[in-house]
Amino acid sequence: MIEVIGPLTHGALTAAGKPVSLQKQLIERLQQAILAGRLPAGALLPSSRLLAAELGVSRNTVVIAYDQLFAEGYVLADRKGTRVSPLANAASHADARQDSAAAEVAYASRLKQFAATRLHADTTSALTPGTPALDRFPLAAWRRSVERAMEQGLPQLLGYGEPAGELGLRDAIAAHLRMARGVRCDGSQVVITEGAQEALKLCVTLLTNPGDTAWIEDPGYRGAKAAFNLGDLRTVPMRVDHEGMAVPPDAWLLDPPKLIYTSPAHQYPTGAVLSVARRLDLIAQARRTGAWLIEDDYDGEFRHTGEPIASMQGLVADAPVLYVGSFSKTMFPALRIGFVVLPRSMVTQTRTALQEMLRGGHRLEQLALANFIEAGEFGRHLGRMRRLYRERQQALREALTQRFDAAQILGGNCGMHLTLRLPPAISDRAVVELAQAQRLNPRALSGFAVRPCEQDNGLVIGYGNTPAEQIAAAVSTLARCVNEVAGTARGRRGNARAQTSARA
Ligand SMILES: Cc1ncc(COP(=O)(O)O)c(C=O)c1O
Repeated sequence: MIEVIGPLTHGALTAAGKPVSLQKQLIERLQQAILAGRLPAGALLPSSRLLAAELGVSRNTVVIAYDQLFAEGYVLADRKGTRVSPLANAASHADARQDSAAAEVAYASRLKQFAATRLHADTTSALTPGTPALDRFPLAAWRRSVERAMEQGLPQLLGYGEPAGELGLRDAIAAHLRMARGVRCDGSQVVITEGAQEALKLCVTLLTNPGDTAWIEDPGYRGAKAAFNLGDLRTVPMRVDHEGMAVPPDAWLLDPPKLIYTSPAHQYPTGAVLSVARRLDLIAQARRTGAWLIEDDYDGEFRHTGEPIASMQGLVADAPVLYVGSFSKTMFPALRIGFVVLPRSMVTQTRTALQEMLRGGHRLEQLALANFIEAGEFGRHLGRMRRLYRERQQALREALTQRFDAAQILGGNCGMHLTLRLPPAISDRAVVELAQAQRLNPRALSGFAVRPCEQDNGLVIGYGNTPAEQIAAAVSTLARCVNEVAGTARGRRGNARAQTSARA
């Protein structure tokens, strides 16, 4: 008994200044002693009266602690007293706790594919691609839409919703897409997702098996590659030129895909528009071979000049296209609402699969967004942002043209970024590092390359979050960073030449 009582009475339980009650402290002490094997299986615990006297606490405290341990299965109680339960490998859990900080986790092998990923935590610095003008978001109108949703639907909206999302929002999105993007759809085809990223994962889950081939734009959107990697697909890069994704004629025969990712309205990151000839060819070949096209229209709403470029999905009836969209740019990224418009032929079967795969939630935000769209606030906000981004893009184009060779600027009159190609000798990653030290946040074009290529060297420069009047100064800082890297590269080449001639 003395042996058993030792681990329990070592060190007093203290009431003073402790946020944890005496009985909680005693329970934790007993649990740790059992898990560490200091109180072995079968050991008889002291009577509550004896332990209370030893510890100088009330008997009731010990009784409550023993009851709790009994309820959790740490001890067994019978007429003879309270004994420690036989617990498998109790001592090894204590060792494991100490080792866990240093332990190697046996990750899934697909995690290796993300090992080289650079972390981009900072999305607030100037020139960040993909961050909209958050300070121009109409908060008062959004607040009204949220309040209206609360009045309309509480408390019912606190419960689970439809896995495909709130019908009101799905209908509102379908109506908007028919009008603004020429998408052929109704609300039954729309599935609301947590941003475009979940929509891409859903396409992979619904339409592919591990090992299937998927084509992807090169350079291209890393989020699509990540979604394909997570589905264990075999990703095949397709080069992008000024007409968008360029598929070699024999690729359909040699390596037919199950899934193809495209961003036709504004290729990310080169800004190319997929030509109508290529769109029609992709649709025809996909139909012929049973492949599916993903059309990511993430910033197609922001065409600054001329008529909007209509969606590929709406080009012909019943195209094998899953149209993916997001409110991350048109509203704000933290809303995390995106969607996929399924082909009509997929709707019925997908509905049952979705019951297993998704839980309907975020209902208040979804209803608020439906209100925002229906009240015309979304359309007005888009109009204002188009004008703002047009102005910012002009400022960026002018500043880049002044400081760099204009022929190296890629990107159409759409979206929220331009891409500046750099000569191969100037490392884009080195420039980005210098720029980040100056609180500028362009991305390295080489980071979007699936297969490394000399041409994919440059800067992806966002203007969504940078006021026009700050752009000239930011670009001249950027030019200094580029010159510094160019100077270092020249110095290195000079040294190499000097060494070669010295050797000669
Ligand atoms: C090409 C592309 N598609 C989609 C998205 C939007 O993704 P999400 O809706 O998950 O924020 C982005 C965001 O940067 C993007 O660059």
